[in-house]
Amino acid sequence: MRKNIVAGNWKMNLDINEGDTLLSNILEQPIDSAVTTIIAPPFIHLERFHQMLSGSNIALAAQNCHNQVSGAYTGEVSVKMLKSVGVQYVILGHSERRDYFNEDSITISYKVNHVLEHELRPIYCCGESLEQRKEGVHFDTIEKQIKQGLFHLNEMELRNCIIAYEPIWAIGTGETASPEQAQEIHEFIRSIIAKQYNPMVAEEISILYGGSVKPSNARELFASKDIDGGLVGGASLDAQSFGQLTNSF
Ligand code: PGA
Repeated sequence: MRKNIVAGNWKMNLDINEGDTLLSNILEQPIDSAVTTIIAPPFIHLERFHQMLSGSNIALAAQNCHNQVSGAYTGEVSVKMLKSVGVQYVILGHSERRDYFNEDSITISYKVNHVLEHELRPIYCCGESLEQRKEGVHFDTIEKQIKQGLFHLNEMELRNCIIAYEPIWAIGTGETASPEQAQEIHEFIRSIIAKQYNPMVAEEISILYGGSVKPSNARELFASKDIDGGLVGGASLDAQSFGQLTNSF
């Protein structure tokens, strides 16, 4: 069964005190317990948040990981480390990582493997740039990202993945894909999964939309047949907005 999911991606925002304040405020919001609610703060918050979240329905995600267990990788954090502080999900392949840190889908596919090997769940991001959409190559772009990042997995492994479609032109810009534009891509993603695996897996995978999701547009987006929720940046930094998003299905 497909799950409705709201995942807050805090990106590189909020120090220890600010993070504690926001999480405390989020915990006071009416969060719909039927919705899988996930928070992805910067690494420094994870251990404390794991304690603060005990007894709540909110799960923890990391925003990235390395693909080795340990070793000489200065500045990196492994999945084993993340798991040891209660992380259950890892965002992988966010466009900001692809653009600013030169991560390609092949590199990301190793991270996907590593996350799954440790029994955590990847939230695999894909999305086209404005130029790619204008050139009409957005379907090809998404297909390539999905194939390279995920299609080496077996069916069981793929079932443990969540996909997030995030058009780069809609991230942090205030410009949202229309529900029709987002639905079209989500349906397309399901169709390529159905072709590579089978229609049942395609139906069961949760596909989130990301890109300027906020309380004023979430309900319409989440009502679309193939949109199972949102990966939310800006609006997840406001406790009330974040709470409202979980009540937008
Ligand atoms: P945004 O970010 O909601 O601020 O557009 C979404 C994301 O990058 O995950």
